[in-house]
Amino acid sequence: MTQRTPSSSPPSIESPQPSLPSNPWWRHAVIYEIYPRSFQDSNGDGIGDINGITSRLDYLQWLGVDAIWISPIYPSPQVDFGYDISDYQNIDPQYGTLEDFDHLLAEAKKHGIRVLMDMVMNHTSDQHPWFLESSSSRDNPRRDWYIWREGHPGATPPYNPPNNWISMFGHSAWQYDARTGQYFYHRFYPQQPDLNWRNPQVEQAMFDCIRFWFDRGVAGLRLDAVPSLFEDPELRDADPLPGTNAYGDPRQDPSRYENLPDDHGVMRRLRSLTDSYSGERVLIGETYLNSIRELDQWYGGSHHNELQLPMDIQVGFINKLDVNLFRRRILEAETRIDGNQPLFVFDNHDHPRSWNRYGDGTHNDLIARLIAAILFTTRSTALLYYGQEIGMTTTPPKRKEDVKDPIGIKGWPREKGRDGERTPMQWNSSANSGFSNASSTWLPLAADYEEKNILAQQNDPGSLLHWYRRLIDLRKTDPALRGNEITMLDVTNPFVLSWLRPGKEHSLLVALNFTAQTQTISFDPAKDRLPSGQVKTILTSASSLEHQSSLAGITLLRHLDREPTIRRRYEHFARSPERSSDEADPSPFCLPAPSLLPFRRACRRAAIRSLRCR
Ligand code: GLC
Ligand code: CA
Repeated sequence: MTQRTPSSSPPSIESPQPSLPSNPWWRHAVIYEIYPRSFQDSNGDGIGDINGITSRLDYLQWLGVDAIWISPIYPSPQVDFGYDISDYQNIDPQYGTLEDFDHLLAEAKKHGIRVLMDMVMNHTSDQHPWFLESSSSRDNPRRDWYIWREGHPGATPPYNPPNNWISMFGHSAWQYDARTGQYFYHRFYPQQPDLNWRNPQVEQAMFDCIRFWFDRGVAGLRLDAVPSLFEDPELRDADPLPGTNAYGDPRQDPSRYENLPDDHGVMRRLRSLTDSYSGERVLIGETYLNSIRELDQWYGGSHHNELQLPMDIQVGFINKLDVNLFRRRILEAETRIDGNQPLFVFDNHDHPRSWNRYGDGTHNDLIARLIAAILFTTRSTALLYYGQEIGMTTTPPKRKEDVKDPIGIKGWPREKGRDGERTPMQWNSSANSGFSNASSTWLPLAADYEEKNILAQQNDPGSLLHWYRRLIDLRKTDPALRGNEITMLDVTNPFVLSWLRPGKEHSLLVALNFTAQTQTISFDPAKDRLPSGQVKTILTSASSLEHQSSLAGITLLRHLDREPTIRRRYEHFARSPERSSDEADPSPFCLPAPSLLPFRRACRRAAIRSLRCR
């Protein structure tokens, strides 16, 4: 990464889109996802908790984190580890109390850190009072708060679901309720019945829950599975796709129950509610979408009136070091989202960690540095997942009997579940890595914690952790990185990804070698429309570049042992990497849906044939 101080004023480099009207805090923010069960245990039960998070705020501040997003900590039967909520206005006792939460908010504020809650609007727990009422009788006033239907005529329950829709977590999305003789719909586990968003009372009730947290002082929400809010009102069968999923179900096109236009009305009203609060509260969406065009709709396009930050998974889940694809996708996020702010995501609690998805097994540390450079030096808001900054590895269970995530039990061995990316945070080399003093922890620590942990990397200035910290610091302090523009350079180079962040005082040039070979690149200020002037290296993973003072003959060391390939376990990605950005969507690729995304194969639409699942 080199910095250029111009001797004359920089040439004008057009900004591709109109920029956003203001410069809110979240545009340049570093947002850090905490999976609360796994971050820090404070009471010795082997499960992380709120006071544990509070005790680690010094670390988060040291790293440069601006906001934490905490995965759900509401009361929950924990079937889906908190994503099955039974009370939206309280804290699960295993994580603490509302007082603990208020204390966290206050302490976080002192550390300059905002707190974002995870909000699950699509479904509740089947133990939520709303569902207990709804399922109690067909004429209960809350019956219509969920999606209840008769079975399909011609067969008998429980073998005649209303249609062929399958759950994200395997098998029919309809659960038969013998007490009232009808089926209810669940996009996820049967213990997570979908709310009926066509009933305005549902929206009112959910918005009240959201106000409860905004009133308490949370700075924003991460909205779980929002493209699943609405379903086809006629419940028409989904079109079949070839092959089967990890659970053995025939694959299908989810467009009958994912990403319906009706979702957007709710997003606009939620945005108005959010904007009625002071402090630039932010809405982040879990939006696994097939194309940049669909993603733009979740911002409200040029109206900018829906989510400020729907997640863009099209960059972070390319899953191979393909320069052309990265360049194209980053550019799409610059030119095709109506000037909205991109949010690239590489890691979260639902997917194998990027360390494993991109690593070649030998140079993972260098590759992780490359990914961090993309995350922190493009224009994207940066989202990271706990442990990413030290290169925590995915550690899936070895035996079915050890699996905690129910999809891993159901899908074993093809789908081992998400435990592997949820192992406890590695703080130091002591027992349980400083995560907990319990005799056993809810998931075992990854095997490498004695060498790979926060403390060890804090003490090593050359560590990945320090690389993250320096990039974060640069992002906060360098005006070029806070600017509005990014220009791709050397755009036909299939080996090295380069871009410029132009600035008034100086500009920043980023060059990343994606290959197994040493690459030498040169830039010509006139031809490449770069500002002329002094050049100096400000951050590099190759010491030979530390004193580089010219844009000609920059030699970048290799990052890989061999040509990159997608790592075995993760090649089941939902889209063809070769898809051109102009290709229409969602067909012919099946819509990637949350959570199982890396486990789905690229799939083409089959001849339409009705298929009923049982
Ligand atoms: C989202 C969450 C995932 C959860 C699912 C159902 O995809 O990230 O962890 O299982 O929604 O709530
Ligand atoms: Ca739904």
